[in-house]
Amino acid sequence: MAAASPKRGRLCAAVVLATYNIKGGVGKTSAAVNLAYLAARGGATTLLWDLDPQGASTYLLRVKPKVKGGGEKLVRGKSDASARIKGTDYDRLDLLPADFSYRHMDLHLDATKRPTRRLGRVLSPLEPEYDYVFLDCPPSISLVSESVFEAADALLIPLLPATLSARTLDYIDQVAGDGVQRLPFFSMVDSRKRMHRDVMEAFTAERPEMLHTVVPLAADVERRGIARAPLEEFAPRGRAAEAFRDLWAEVTERLLRASGRGSKP
Ligand SMILES: Nc1ncnc2c1ncn2[C@@H]1O[C@H](COP(=O)(O)OP(=O)(O)OP(=O)(O)O)[C@@H](O)[C@H]1O
Ligand SMILES: [Mg+2]
Repeated sequence: MAAASPKRGRLCAAVVLATYNIKGGVGKTSAAVNLAYLAARGGATTLLWDLDPQGASTYLLRVKPKVKGGGEKLVRGKSDASARIKGTDYDRLDLLPADFSYRHMDLHLDATKRPTRRLGRVLSPLEPEYDYVFLDCPPSISLVSESVFEAADALLIPLLPATLSARTLDYIDQVAGDGVQRLPFFSMVDSRKRMHRDVMEAFTAERPEMLHTVVPLAADVERRGIARAPLEEFAPRGRAAEAFRDLWAEVTERLLRASGRGSKP
């Protein structure tokens, strides 16, 4: 069973999950592609919107990074988002691709009324079709991210096991406001490194919202650029694939709890 959207409460509303961090190269796209794949494989109709003009998710899912009419028409409600959605090689997993014009999405949003509501408005008509919508965000704090905070039920926040990540999370807390659940997790963890273990222990003690699953630093994830596929498709027995399966189970459990339908208090 898919979780209900904690934000909008309606059972027919898709649960919107954004992979977000101000920092680049921390594992946002890896999480978006692998978790969206697992959601779809588990039976949920799933859409991934690649909001990053670099189009890494789009590339990994083997789709052309092109949206007819570009990002401007999309956020202004002047193009039909459902007609821009592409199927992927995987059942139940669809993609709203990246487009190079998304690099100007801030300007396009700024030119609209209520810019922070625009992404949510693009998604609303699509929601009855999907159980989950993933937003793969570019690394920034901008109008795009403010619009993401408004549209999303939860932020999946990959954090490197480094002391400065505490400040990053504090900062995200400030800018994201109270309306969106935070699901931070450690990414690219080398458990042989004492420093990683120490940072994670200290951090988890201070931050009860940290997910327990950690994504290991693993060569399998780096190979994704060659395989152009979710881990489950080319290295299902590896540690990284296992970590993403555990992560997805933990995320769905937290979402169910937040929507008041979980098994635990
Ligand atoms: N767990 C991991 N182990 C090893 N390499 C990883 C892991 N996660 C991500 N990488 C590698 O690190 C790089 C950045 O990962 P990814 O694209 O997922 O991060 P991102 O936060 O989306 O980056 P950006 O901010 O550029 O969008 C990629 O080359 C990816 O293959
Ligand atoms: Mg990315």
